[in-house]
Amino acid sequence: MRVVISPYRICPIGAHSDHQGGPTLGMAVSAHTVLTFAPDATSTIRLTSDNFPGEVIIDLERLTSVDEHAGPADWSRYVAAAALVLRDRLPESPVGIRGHVRGTLPGGGLSSSASVLLAYLSALADVNDIVLSPEDKVDLALRAEREFVGIKVGILDPAAIVGGRRGQLLSIDSRAARWEGIPLGDNAPEFHILIAASGVTRNLAGTDYNRRVGECFAACRKLTSLAGLDDIAGLHDLDDAVFEQWGDRLPTPERRRARHFFTERARVRRGIELWKQGDVAGFGELMNASCQSSIDNWEAGSPELIELQRTLTEKPEVYGSRFSGAGFGGCIVALVSDFAAVAKNLPGRVFRVESDDGVRVL
Ligand code: GLA
Repeated sequence: MRVVISPYRICPIGAHSDHQGGPTLGMAVSAHTVLTFAPDATSTIRLTSDNFPGEVIIDLERLTSVDEHAGPADWSRYVAAAALVLRDRLPESPVGIRGHVRGTLPGGGLSSSASVLLAYLSALADVNDIVLSPEDKVDLALRAEREFVGIKVGILDPAAIVGGRRGQLLSIDSRAARWEGIPLGDNAPEFHILIAASGVTRNLAGTDYNRRVGECFAACRKLTSLAGLDDIAGLHDLDDAVFEQWGDRLPTPERRRARHFFTERARVRRGIELWKQGDVAGFGELMNASCQSSIDNWEAGSPELIELQRTLTEKPEVYGSRFSGAGFGGCIVALVSDFAAVAKNLPGRVFRVESDDGVRVL
């Protein structure tokens, strides 16, 4: 028996920047998908789970699509998606896996989907002696989610889950598909990472995620044409000055999405500087501003989530907080000076996590 530990991730600043090619900040945390597995010589994947019903059974030699196999659709699609993106690299008679998967926290907002995909990819690669570089893992997880799960996600989740390092913040350059660990400055005060779950978990496929991404690209095309530019792949290719000059010509939803992008890009850049200086309080203020932009400009956040973040903002022991992830449900991530004081009387479930290393097979 072997075990894959595939962490969840938080994104303290840099929401909805990745799909536009922009910079974002991630951190792998000590809440994980844990996949216990053994090789299966019959080329079959058989998996059960603590968190999901039924058994997933996939014949690797017959698999052609995410929908054609036995198993409850909700979670078997992710297993099939991981197998499909790896298909070209598998040997002629691939080795399957038998195993059990569980998540150590409720996933919503912590990217449990990229976490499970990377767990399945890592186990399949392991039993088939396929060596995957960190870049391969990120690329395969991204393709699995985009091509087979159908969400136009960016690189944030897999990059944070693969590239995370204990004690560091990960600065991710989405356009270049590169990431770099940023150590916290020496003078930083002690802080803890608090996750407050709203109890509302939503699969991104059932949200406005793809529509919002589409509005960003529409804003990008219009700004590009208004400014007489061409060859622009995403909002990140435009200077702030283009938005300042032409932004008010955009329809309201597109103007808001673009405003979120350009202000968030500035917060990420400033956040990296503050982190290096150990200025956790300044970094926390940027998290609060980032969340406000998610509410006003991205128009994300359920009433429960907005209320929970407001409650956190008012507590003196909270440096900063924001929606974790896409912001359509899920949880809040907060940096706090005193965990017990903040956790007391918060509605819903509260967890304490630490930064962690990226996905690994033990
Ligand atoms: C989800 C997506 C990421 C990213 C975030 C928002 O987690 O999977 O690619 O876009 O939302 O920053």
